[in-house]
Parts: sequence; structure tokens; C-alpha cells
Amino acid sequence: MTFKRHTVTAALPYANGPVHIGHLAGCYLPADIYVRYLRSKGEDVKFICGSDEHGVPITIKAKKEGVTPQQVVDKYHKIMGDAFEGFGISFDIFSRTSSKTHHETASDFFKTLYDKGVFKEEVTEQYFDEKANQFLADRYIVGTCPKCGNDNAYGDQCEKCGSTLNATDLINPKSTLSGEKPIMKSTKNWFLPLDTMQPQIEAYIDSHKEWKSNVFGQCKSWLNAGLQPRAMTRDLDWGVKVPIEGADGKVLYVWFDAPIGYISATKDLTPDWELYWKDKETKLVHFIGKDNIVFHCIIFPAMLMAEGSYILPENVPANEFLNLEGDKISTSRNWAVWLHEYLLEFKDKQDVLRYTLCANAPETKDNDFTWKDFQAKNNNELVAILGNFVNRTLVLTHKYYEGKVPVASEYTKNDILLLEEISKFPAKISASIEQYRFREALSELMNLARLGNKYLADNEPWILIKTDAKRVQTIMNLSLQIAANLTVLMEPFLPFTAAKLGSMLNLNTDLRWKDATRTDLLLAGHQINTSSLLFDKVEDETIVAQVQKLADSKKMNELEKQSEIEPAKAETSFEDFSKMDIRVGTILEAERVPKTDKLLKLLIDTGIDKRTVVSGIAGSYKPEDIIGQQVSILVNLAPRKIKGIESQGMILMAENNKGELSFVEPSKPNMNNGAVIK
Ligand code: 2FM
Ligand code: ZN
Repeated sequence: MTFKRHTVTAALPYANGPVHIGHLAGCYLPADIYVRYLRSKGEDVKFICGSDEHGVPITIKAKKEGVTPQQVVDKYHKIMGDAFEGFGISFDIFSRTSSKTHHETASDFFKTLYDKGVFKEEVTEQYFDEKANQFLADRYIVGTCPKCGNDNAYGDQCEKCGSTLNATDLINPKSTLSGEKPIMKSTKNWFLPLDTMQPQIEAYIDSHKEWKSNVFGQCKSWLNAGLQPRAMTRDLDWGVKVPIEGADGKVLYVWFDAPIGYISATKDLTPDWELYWKDKETKLVHFIGKDNIVFHCIIFPAMLMAEGSYILPENVPANEFLNLEGDKISTSRNWAVWLHEYLLEFKDKQDVLRYTLCANAPETKDNDFTWKDFQAKNNNELVAILGNFVNRTLVLTHKYYEGKVPVASEYTKNDILLLEEISKFPAKISASIEQYRFREALSELMNLARLGNKYLADNEPWILIKTDAKRVQTIMNLSLQIAANLTVLMEPFLPFTAAKLGSMLNLNTDLRWKDATRTDLLLAGHQINTSSLLFDKVEDETIVAQVQKLADSKKMNELEKQSEIEPAKAETSFEDFSKMDIRVGTILEAERVPKTDKLLKLLIDTGIDKRTVVSGIAGSYKPEDIIGQQVSILVNLAPRKIKGIESQGMILMAENNKGELSFVEPSKPNMNNGAVIK
């Protein structure tokens, strides 16, 4: 099917931190290459992005930085926008979900579904943190993933295996606000009935067998597991307010509002926004990372289907993850190459990173970025192949013809073969780009530069100039045509270099993709401008410094971690350990020890007897909250007098690095008092 226009989106990044190479390689660079290519083909395209400013990631960051969520999103919206611009990511709009248009659009969308009776309204038991006085949704709760056993799965998703979860699926859930075990509390929410929509969604996915196999495969495995209703509202105070009565203190689920952000950004961009979202002749393509697949391939299409007037995504070319020097990129461990830092440290080398990330893009599997490879890609490919060809061509043109394009006279048989070869490149590169194979497309582009180098090396104009000046004119004319075609074809991948080369060749700036099938872009007599090197070598010191920077960051992290964890104690023997008699017990009574801050006097049923224990836990627990609490108690510790009270044993407590205490209790409810802990 041919389309009249294109809406291309790149995932809205959370405005809770700067962006790194993993973001760029994951979706922004491939999306930008795709869009620049479409523009070069003269297609009508809108490239949409913005920052995702709602959801728990933002409020967690605000809490950590001691500022308001609005301050967090204002800061990072700017930092991210500047970094994207710095790398030439050519969004038509970089909007934000805290905008008025977005709040209205998301709110209206919800209301439409509500009025159509799409949602199931249900009161369910959800986790609640009593200490923080807050329901725990999404990233406010972590626990063990029931699917893969990852201990750090979030309440809505496990980032390790990609499963979407409900907070109640987590094993051993824990509040990320207080570290406490949450209680259950009932609350009303509005659910998207993905279960009853499954047949429609399945038919939609099955009609897209052409999707990348990682994307199609993930969708099929969710469908095979059976879709579940999913709450589209949350008991939180940061986000788009739920626009119906009886929903005070509730906001839209961030994954309900964020993809609508693509629509509201388009509204802010053009009054014709509906053409880009509702006309069947528009091709909608979402570029994302693999952790976003379910939201873009199942949940968002389900929302669009339920609304009824929108087109559905035609493709969702998700990439896998990029690692860094063999290790997972991690914001919290500062294991990343930050785009804003790269822009400062590698001035005018944006295309080198674009090239390296595209050549090594995690298109079909996770991939690794290493600084050594960055250096090799720059020195052995950009400098030695592309830069070398262009430089030799331009230097010889200035030397022999004072920068005027010479006349091509007779073509040899090989020249004719070369001309045929050159004209095939646009179609070859197009075919790869249109199948979202950007690595393959880039490697074809480099083959054109290789062809140019081979042509110069085979014909040796620098030797021939002494004997056959006329032949050299043809050779140089042809080499210049290759340089011109390269300029057009490299633009989606290396826009800064294309601009530089275009200006050195004094090339018509209106040239489009199809012009690169021609071999007469530079007419004889055309004056080119002075030239300079397209790429410089990256020296060993530069790479050593970057590797050192990462090593320093790793060291800092380890030091920080070490200071968090108490060092291990000296070895002990099993014999010594087994002298301790530790039992399960239950607190029967608790009261403060007068005139102390920390001490509680407890009466504990140890199964053997009932005894008094004085314990320093008043900073972490109120007496009235712990009656009935199961504990681990060391029962054969010699009695000690504390504040005049005889303490007959000791309760075992876990203590974190902030000095917070927690009971160590059996994880099964049927452990009787007196049960031995060994
Ligand atoms: O994973 C993320 O960074 C999300 N903020 C992506 C949202 S994409 C879209 F739906 F807006
Ligand atoms: Zn998992």
C-alpha cells in the first residue's frame, strides 16, 4: 500500500534525567534517519516527540532532588531537547506532556472512552504504604517478578524480561518510598478490558507479520498468555486528573497519557493534525526501545481501537538494548555516555557518534558500544574510506583545475560500468531503510565511498596526469559526481558532514534522494569551494581518557556501595553459631520504656515461655503497631538489666544504612511460636 503522508514518532523520554547513547541508538537516531530519508524523497512527514513528564519516575526524582515535580520536568525537558538538537535529531516538534494541550487531549480521550462505556469500573485491593500514606503503583513498588525471578521488578513492568505486571503480581513487594511492606487497601479504578478486546487486538497483530521478528514475537507471546484488564487510572497526585466524578485524587496511568502525547504534540504542530492521525492514507510508525513494545503494540492500539476514529500504528520498529563496554547502561550507576557531555567533549563530532551507533545499532539483538570500536569506526572507516575519497577528489580538483569541475569526455567500458553501479545505490539504500535495516543501509552508503576509492586507486590520476591529462579530466569528473551523490545519500545518516561536503562542493541544496540516481549533479565548469578534511583521526589519548572516565565512575560507585554496606565480620565456626538458640516468637504486649527515646519493653511468647525483652526499636516502630508481630528471638542470651528492667533475650532486627530497622519474620504464616531458626 502506498501512503500519502507519514506520522513518525520517537518514544517520549521521561523527563527525569539526561539522555545517553542508549537512548540515541535505541530510537532517536533510527527515527531521525528514517524521517530525513522520507523528507529527501519529498514525502509529507511529521516527526513527533516530546518529554514524558508524568508518572512515578518523575515524582521519585523530585523527592530525591528535594524539588517539585514541575521543577524536575522543566530542567530535564530543556537538557534533553538541547541534546537532541545538538545531535541533529530533526523533530518537527519536541513537545511535553505537562502542556495544556496535552492535558486537554488526554482528558478528552479518557472521557470519550468513559462515555462509550469502554472501561470496567472496579474496586480492588491495591498496595498502600501506611508510612507514606500513599497507594503504591508502578515504580513506587518493587518486588520479585513472578515470570523471571528478577528481584527488582516494578509494579507495572519487569525491565529484565519485559513482562507487563500488576503490582499485585509481585512476590515480596516493598514500597520504594519507605522500604516498608505495604498493606492492602481498597480503591476504585477504571480498567481497559484488554481481555475482551483480545480477538480484535490479535487480528491487528496478525495482520502485521512483516514487523521485526523481535516485536512480532513479543506481541504473540503476550497474546498467547492471554491479555488481562489493565487499570488506566492511578491513586497519585502528579499527572492528568481523571476527568470524571468520584475520581478525586486520581490521575491517568502514565502509559495511558504518554502515547496520547504524540497526538497532542501533533495538535500543537499543525492545525491539520487530524490528517496525520485519522486519515487512512497516513502511515503511522512508532520508533521505540524494546521495553516499550507492549505499550505501543497492544495497549495504545487497543485505546485507539476503542476510541474508533484513529488510524493504528502501521509499524513499530523497536530496537533491542545497547550496552556500554560490556555492561548494562545504568543511570543510577552513572554507567553511560551522556549526550550533553559528549557534545562538550567532542565538538563537531556528532556524526562520528551517529555513525558508530548506526553501524552498531542493536537492531536484532543487544549490542555493545566500546570506545575502542568508536575509535576504529572513526579512523578506519570515516577517515580512511569516506574522508579519504572525498579529500583526494577535492584536493586534486583544486590542484589540477583550480576548483573547476573538468569536462568528462570519452567513457571507458569500466567508466560505463561504474556509472551504472552508482545509479543503483539510492534504490539499494532505500530498500534497507524502508525495512528499518539502518545498519545495512549505512554499510551500502560506505560501499559507494569504497567504490570511489577503488576507482581512484585503479586509475591513479596522480600518475596519469603526466601522460594523459584528458583522461584525468574524465576520472576527476566522475569522482566528483560520486562525491555529489554521496552528499545526498549520506544526509539522513551524517547530516553535519553532508552539509559540510555540500558546501565544499558548492552543491545545489535542493537536491533530493532521486537526484542521486543521476551522474551529472556537477556540471563541467562548476566552481567548488575550498576544502578541508571531513573527519580527523581520534587519537589513543582521547579513548584512554574516556575509558578512564568510565573506570572512575565505576570506582566511585563501588566506593559508595561499600560505604553503604557493612563490611563482613570475621569468620565463625558452625559450632559457635549452633550455640545460639533462635526461635520464632510473637509480641504480646509493647510499651515505651519511660524517659528513653529508643527503648520498648516487650512481652514475647517464645513458644517455650512468655518473657520480657527490652529492645531499641522505638525509632522504627510504635508499640501499638506491633502487637501480634512475629519476630526472631535469641532465647539463650544471658539476661541483662536495661534501665532497671531485666531483658531476657534479644530480638533480631535487620538494619539498613539509614539506620531503619525491620523485624526478621518468617515468610510463611504457619511458623508456630518456638519454631527453631537454624
Ligand atoms: O520508557 C520511557 O522512557 C517512556 N517515557 C516512553 C514513553 S513513549 C510514549 F508512549 F510516549
Ligand atoms: Zn521478569
